[in-house]
Amino acid sequence: YMGAEALPRKNSHGIELTDPQAVEPLLAAVDKARGKHFLGGPIVDGVMGKSEEPVVNPATGELVGHTANTDKHLIDQAYASANEAQIAWDRLGGEARAKILDKIADLYEKHMNDLVALICLEAGRTLNDGVSEVREAIDFCRYYANGARKHFSEPTELPGPTGEENRLYLSGRGVFVAISPWNFPLAIFTGQVVAALAAGNTVLAKPAEQTPLIAAHAIELMHEAGVPSKVLHLITGTGAAVGAPLIEDPRLSGVVFTGSTETARLINKQLADKEGPITPLIAETGGQNVMIVDSTALPEQVVDDVIQSAFLSAGQRCSALRILCVQDVIADNLLNMLKGACEELTLGDPSKLETDIGPVIDEKALGLLEAHRERMQQEAKPLFAFDEARKPANGTFFGPQVVEIEDFSLLKREVFGPFLHVVRFKAEELEDVIRRINATGYGLTFGLHSRIEGRASAVFKRVNVGNCYVNRDMVGAVVGVNPFGGTGLSGTGPKAGGPHYLFRFANEKTKTVNV
Ligand code: SER
Repeated sequence: YMGAEALPRKNSHGIELTDPQAVEPLLAAVDKARGKHFLGGPIVDGVMGKSEEPVVNPATGELVGHTANTDKHLIDQAYASANEAQIAWDRLGGEARAKILDKIADLYEKHMNDLVALICLEAGRTLNDGVSEVREAIDFCRYYANGARKHFSEPTELPGPTGEENRLYLSGRGVFVAISPWNFPLAIFTGQVVAALAAGNTVLAKPAEQTPLIAAHAIELMHEAGVPSKVLHLITGTGAAVGAPLIEDPRLSGVVFTGSTETARLINKQLADKEGPITPLIAETGGQNVMIVDSTALPEQVVDDVIQSAFLSAGQRCSALRILCVQDVIADNLLNMLKGACEELTLGDPSKLETDIGPVIDEKALGLLEAHRERMQQEAKPLFAFDEARKPANGTFFGPQVVEIEDFSLLKREVFGPFLHVVRFKAEELEDVIRRINATGYGLTFGLHSRIEGRASAVFKRVNVGNCYVNRDMVGAVVGVNPFGGTGLSGTGPKAGGPHYLFRFANEKTKTVNV
């Protein structure tokens, strides 16, 4: 099934990290990047603005570069320019835009080592995560390029009575604002931008304030690939500094946002009040993701998948596992094995190949996790706490934690880090567990480990989530393979990397001719 795609496409390769020869240039790129000072925008009309705010490496506290809060006049200039350039960009057509997007993918591939190095230094992501992320970014470019070819080149012929011709045309909506998070500072940033571009929109891209440097590098590569500088601008800064002028502008035609549920609500409110067209929001937000493990599951595999889903990437994925529901009869054995596996995890410098878990993004994130740990000391039973003596002295590190709770209604908010909550259930309580999952209001990812035939399809029907994973881990959705995104408090859809994503970025227009 080709879905959105017009041409056969293969997902990108990445780097084999167990091959010393393949890894050497990557490690060299990290060393080289360490000695550099990066500039992180804003970039309006292709010109880099003055950068004065420091950007630090969360693993060391060292300076990586500088960025700035984009001032209002520059945002106005970006709007004027993007607004003017939009019609020509749209008229260029799907095929021509696709060629440019494919070129971005080629440039990302060529610069893969440098991109991974910068992701590692600026966002504290491990090399393994960095490689996966660059691959995902490349896949987004090529996948949406094919979507543009298929849906934005020629109109769709529609039926009609004899003597009437009907055609459906898709075009860009206008100027899009793309607001992306720090946890996938290249992949989500790129996915949003290239989707909006593919559909014929011009874009003001606003990366997280923690990760403007990788975004600035990406924008430079996009311009180099042939995206005109008036079509794509980088607006850097905090939400407080640049949010209002970005969202309240009457020239805005659409927003694509990935981040917290609270911020999505705030943007929605601002959009409701703004002048100009009714402006849609595409939001991908948080999760309260649960995995159910029944007594028939394979314990070794469960442990592997739990570690992968809850702790790797320092738990800083919206898809990450937060609540593990284990059937009581196997719980003691499984939790013992899990504890053993947790003891093996290494926390430390994300640029070292042996590191499993890097830092969390900043002091604020660390503070929230420490406060949660304190609360759980009162309200939960401790099962595993990372040995504080094994924690690096500098940087914002938080060791993995496992606690047992009675009921997950205790968790009102997403805990964004390597913190796993375990709940035991009895066989006859399975229905109730599903009811409680749906009652959280979130609906992003869900995991099931069970060898009972028919259980997966029965549970799948009942659980209100976007991505349901059976007998595997529940993170690392692959473009075109596991289209990603949820429902309810987790987002509006459509799914990123899925066949319907581009349509939400488009206007539809029909032409009916009486011939
Ligand atoms: N797309 C990412 C994942 O599947 C989101 O966090 O893990």
